[in-house]
Amino acid sequence: MPFTLDSKTALVTGAGRGIGRAIAQKLAKCGAAVMVNDLDAGPASETEATIRQAGGRAAALAGDVTDAAFPQRLVDATVERFGAIDIIVNNAGYTWDNVIQKTNDEQFQAMLAIHLMAPFRILRAASGWIRENAKREVAEGRRVMRKVVNITSIAGTDGNPGQAGYSSGKAGVIGLTKTMAKEWGRYNVTVNAVGFGIIETRLTQPLTGPGASIEVLGRKIAVGVQPNVLEWVKTACPLGRPGTPEEAANAVLFFCSPLSDYVTGEVLICGGGLRF
Ligand SMILES: NC(=O)c1ccc[n+]([C@@H]2O[C@H](COP(=O)([O-])OP(=O)(O)OC[C@H]3O[C@@H](n4cnc5c(N)ncnc54)[C@H](O)[C@@H]3O)[C@@H](O)[C@H]2O)c1
Repeated sequence: MPFTLDSKTALVTGAGRGIGRAIAQKLAKCGAAVMVNDLDAGPASETEATIRQAGGRAAALAGDVTDAAFPQRLVDATVERFGAIDIIVNNAGYTWDNVIQKTNDEQFQAMLAIHLMAPFRILRAASGWIRENAKREVAEGRRVMRKVVNITSIAGTDGNPGQAGYSSGKAGVIGLTKTMAKEWGRYNVTVNAVGFGIIETRLTQPLTGPGASIEVLGRKIAVGVQPNVLEWVKTACPLGRPGTPEEAANAVLFFCSPLSDYVTGEVLICGGGLRF
């Protein structure tokens, strides 16, 4: 590694499974202490355990990032446990798809709550600690870089039928990213987004497969991708295959590392060249 994250503390939301777990593990492998959050306590603890078993530093706090009071608790717990918050990855998310005429208000708002409101509240919750510390560091003549990575999707950049809510949330978080890059540049925080194409997780399993539904906050939600779309990916995607969570996490790692210290307000698409 041409860098180390030894002195850094990271917060990763939705890190109990899939891409978030791979991000948390990768950050820990590079030396960061990682606060693992997930809605589901079991998977969050499992991620924490895998990091510790590999010799890394981690803690877990299960909780719902769409609960108005929870983001501040999560940020405070991270600072309390590790003494800092240097890297924030807003990754928690899920799909709740349907064509617009079958999408009710609750469904649309749930997509905005998880993909847009939660990242907003988490960054607002962290702003006090970040501004206070950055001002002190700048006064001391030190440049300490911090990192925010918001997770978006090619559904957000390109649109995708059946995903009015999801794509609106994922497009909205790009606006948040670009604005925060401008607000926080003076505090030496880079704020970028990574948009994924099709990455192999439970959200992109064949729609007809077993377990093609997830439970989120007591709601059973169908997830997955039509088998014909998965077939289409093989020809439409220049690399001819979906990506792995590890490959997805590598793109995020770039924005969490000193390699991206002079890159801010950008959206990096990690999709094997696939666009909708
Ligand atoms: N898999 C893909 O192809 C793909 C493509 C584009 C974008 N994304 C985005 O990547 C991110 C990760 O998705 P994934 O594919 O790894 O899915 P995943 O279901 O494997 O993991 C997402 C995790 O987020 C957690 N989560 C959901 N709601 C939460 C809440 N309210 N509070 C805290 N945690 C919550 C879930 O419990 C789950 O463990 C999401 O933002 C998703 O929209 C995924």
